[in-house]
Amino acid sequence: MCGIVAYVGSRRAYPILIKGLQRLEYRGYDSAGIGLIENNKIVTYKKDGKVNDLISFIGDSSTDGTIGIGHTRWATHGPPNQINSHPHSSSNGKFSLIHNGIIENYLTLKIALEKKGHVFISDTDSEVLIHLIEDVYNSLEKKSSSNNDLLYQAIIIALNEVIGAYAIVILEQGNTQEIFAARKGSPLVIGIGNEEYFVASDASPIIEFTNKVIYLNDGEVAKLNKNEDVIVKTIENKIKSPYVQELEQTLESIEKGGYDHFMLKEIFEQPKSIIDTLRGRINPKTNDIILGGIIDHESRILSADRIIIIACGTSWHSGLIGEYLIEDLARINVEVEYASEFRYKNPILTKKDVVIAISQSGETADTLAALELAKEKGALTLGICNVVGSSITRTTSGGTYTHAGPEIGVASTKAFTTQVTVLTLIALRLSQLKSTVERNNYDFLIKELRLVPQKIEKLLLQNDMIKEIALKFYKATNFLYLGRGVNFPVALEGALKLKEISYIHAEGYPAAEMKHGPIALIDDEMPIVVIANRKDNYEKVVSNIQEVKARGGKLIAIVTEGDQEVKSLADYCIEIPKCFREISPLLTIIPLQLLSYHIALLRECNVDQPRNLAKSVTVE
Ligand code: M6R
Repeated sequence: MCGIVAYVGSRRAYPILIKGLQRLEYRGYDSAGIGLIENNKIVTYKKDGKVNDLISFIGDSSTDGTIGIGHTRWATHGPPNQINSHPHSSSNGKFSLIHNGIIENYLTLKIALEKKGHVFISDTDSEVLIHLIEDVYNSLEKKSSSNNDLLYQAIIIALNEVIGAYAIVILEQGNTQEIFAARKGSPLVIGIGNEEYFVASDASPIIEFTNKVIYLNDGEVAKLNKNEDVIVKTIENKIKSPYVQELEQTLESIEKGGYDHFMLKEIFEQPKSIIDTLRGRINPKTNDIILGGIIDHESRILSADRIIIIACGTSWHSGLIGEYLIEDLARINVEVEYASEFRYKNPILTKKDVVIAISQSGETADTLAALELAKEKGALTLGICNVVGSSITRTTSGGTYTHAGPEIGVASTKAFTTQVTVLTLIALRLSQLKSTVERNNYDFLIKELRLVPQKIEKLLLQNDMIKEIALKFYKATNFLYLGRGVNFPVALEGALKLKEISYIHAEGYPAAEMKHGPIALIDDEMPIVVIANRKDNYEKVVSNIQEVKARGGKLIAIVTEGDQEVKSLADYCIEIPKCFREISPLLTIIPLQLLSYHIALLRECNVDQPRNLAKSVTVE
């Protein structure tokens, strides 16, 4: 969703802003803009389209200021055109704002401001916010004898009138020393340099310059004067001492490193990211699992009535796999809910429930809101997140990082497999505590889990062959994905990957459910991807395959190496290394990710930034 970047210091701000916006492109957006202070005046450039369109639009125009703000907008209020792009200005042009989030009461505020004579030129809620700040500023100015910190005060007062979510940065005409930043519900990171500050939606535009950062908390407003220490106040006007952290992220981790696309890089990174997920979590001598962020809550989990997993999209799919694994291995009742539904369904929740939020970004608005609801009702809340320091990690009582490293491609790949790895660890740990899995089997499963990275390496060698299959099917208009048991969520995930990046309609189904409806779609044009792992209801899946074949469907089967039966039925086969059923989703998903990638490329789609999608969905 919208991306924010800002700079104040003594370097030229323009290249920092542009590069920062390019690093934030992965979040998804449809217009971009920047504002700089030059000769004490705010100069604004905005353009619909991509950051490259903005660069061409700016051309040789002057871009010399050492202070500025930049924004990529993912349209909510009003179409993605130049006028609705950010930055937005106050009536008198004195203040300029970039905003990520939604001001829910913007219409009420707008009507009140219009009555006072404010005229709005855009459709956005963001423009209303900067006018509100200007309005408060004007009334403070009338009452006050000095202009000291007037804007800071005005921002704080105005934000008290706002309902909704925001991450904002504000420039003031004539003030080349400072910028102001605030957040509630949308992420914002401040980078501390040498007499300079950076602000961004995440650390990616900042790490090139500094590894010292402050993650602003909800309801905090920062004054960033290049000659002073950071000042942070709450919107209740209380001074806070900011917590300065050191970033562990590296620059290479957010660059393509020789791959054509981030998605391909991230697919190929999975052996390494799973090693990182497992690192330090399995005692090499005893095979005992240690999950530091959960250990203190284990007794509460064991006595819980049920575990409720809340998530969206791909993270919801990994949650479904978690349900299979935890119920099967640890015999604890698990429910998996779409966060967006859960938060509004008046859920029955008690102190005896454990709620686990799964989120790559840790910023998904629905997941965060559902989590807060669970917390209010007294449930124990835990998180499985990738982004360190993200909102969900700060809202939960404990949890486990996936350590996948930055995921830039909008379509989740390594985030999914590392989430599934964490869920497997949790299921196995609980099974150990409850003695629901025999020691021998437990040890075998741990051994299998450790072998996953090398098995994925082997699977990735089939990339060229999968590309050949993609060539046969890239013109299809529909796809069906079938799987059973723990591989049913993999079918859902495979279908999601394909539709996200290739815009082909695809559906995932439990294989046996096919005959209750989707079978009507099958004709000799229809590609059907079936996951037929040897250890997972194999005979049943073979029967489902026969049903597809009888209707002329084109079969692409994911089979265990050495399989003969399905091979004799399917049009195309992709072999996965032998593995236990519980571990199989970590392997069966790999060919499905590659298949989507190659199909999308052949259809000339933007693989890393598919249309209309945002990486981090920070609005409802
Ligand atoms: O950051 P999160 O894991 O909370 O994001 C949830 C979904 O928005 C995300 O998984 C989305 O479905 C991806 N584009 C899937 O590839």
